Amino acid sequence: MAFADRGQSVVLCDTNARAVEMVNQGRMPFREDGAQELLPRLVAGGRLTATLEGSALGTAEAVVVVIGTPVDEYHNPDVGAVLRALDGASEHLVDGQLLVLRSTVYPGVTALAEKRMTQLGKALDVAFCPERIAEGRALDELSSLPQIVSGRNPRAVERAASLFRTLTPEIVELLPEEAELAKLFTNTWRYIKFATANQLFMIANDFGLDFERIRHAVTYRYPRAADMPGPGFAAGPCLFKDTMQIAAFNENRFTLGHASVMVNEGLPLYVVRRLEQRYDLSTLTVGILGMAFKGGSDDTRSSLSYKLKRLLSIKANSVLCTDPYVTGDPELIPLDEVLARSGLLVVATPHPEYLGLTVDVPAVDLFNVLGRGVMV
Ligand SMILES: NC(=O)c1ccc[n+]([C@@H]2O[C@H](COP(=O)([O-])OP(=O)(O)OC[C@H]3O[C@@H](n4cnc5c(N)ncnc54)[C@H](O)[C@@H]3O)[C@@H](O)[C@H]2O)c1
Repeated sequence: MAFADRGQSVVLCDTNARAVEMVNQGRMPFREDGAQELLPRLVAGGRLTATLEGSALGTAEAVVVVIGTPVDEYHNPDVGAVLRALDGASEHLVDGQLLVLRSTVYPGVTALAEKRMTQLGKALDVAFCPERIAEGRALDELSSLPQIVSGRNPRAVERAASLFRTLTPEIVELLPEEAELAKLFTNTWRYIKFATANQLFMIANDFGLDFERIRHAVTYRYPRAADMPGPGFAAGPCLFKDTMQIAAFNENRFTLGHASVMVNEGLPLYVVRRLEQRYDLSTLTVGILGMAFKGGSDDTRSSLSYKLKRLLSIKANSVLCTDPYVTGDPELIPLDEVLARSGLLVVATPHPEYLGLTVDVPAVDLFNVLGRGVMV
């Protein structure tokens, strides 16, 4: 959409028939700030179309690959995901095209992609230009963030840089392996910071103190600690799996990464244990506010709200869930109903709708959206 908005002609080639149909009707298949306003204009103007037909790739000057790259159920990265997608598309790729990998990939995949293309007899300029936007803020950040560009030869770098200069003036050049690690380090850095805050929260909480008051004092007019995040469920489709990609790359010797997984994934268990100490959960209806993995999002992938729900479903009398953005979960009910029927609430996602909400039952609020502190 950003490329089309800058005047390029763009074809989205996807295997998801529903998404393709929705896009061609000018409807966004997921939430992104500003996207639902922009999409119909681009589709009506003929600059953006979606298709299931791989043959559409043949006329493109640049092919950008942005398929999902999750870890499997045993947390192993699927190194072959991008390569398999390229195999599937290879009959439509044409000599001389620029092939930009934009998915977050396991280190070395860019080189493997070029090798695979050569084996298949395709002479392409292969680049790796990682996506670093925060989900939900893509349209703004694609033009406000510098773009990391790398390529398997100087012409690939030059062509990819000129493509992304249509979005943003600042290009940072790296070698492909450096760029692959730069993207993984970006997400892992964030994940470790969240884990640090979550562990400090648990230490303060176990000592009977409100971490939010301490964090305010630590960060207040003290630039060296200004980026200390608040506590909260830290998950979603990127941070965890990218931490696991580095762990696999480093022969499972990623002490800080593994420790962060234990802390962040352990937070719902900690919350439930603390609640058990204070309440007889077996008699209580517990309401969970927010099922998306982060505030303002409709994305439930790897959301810890669902882990919390599973844990509470075993312990509590009943569990009610609500979310203003999530669609497609038939068990969600309206907020008013959850507030009316619950004897205990957990704010699991800091959606703006919950800011300053008045509730008249006890509430666990790690994100402090109710403004009453974060003690559990
Ligand atoms: N979502 C984000 O905000 C974000 C931010 C930074 C980086 N990333 C990275 O971008 C990549 C994509 O993430 P996502 O969240 O958009 O994933 P996603 O799974 O939501 O979307 C991938 C899309 O690719 C399509 N697809 C899968 N295989 C295909 C194939 N062979 N041919 C054509 N289409 C195919 C899917 O149908 C889907 O529409 C990942 O590597 C992720 O780590 C995502």
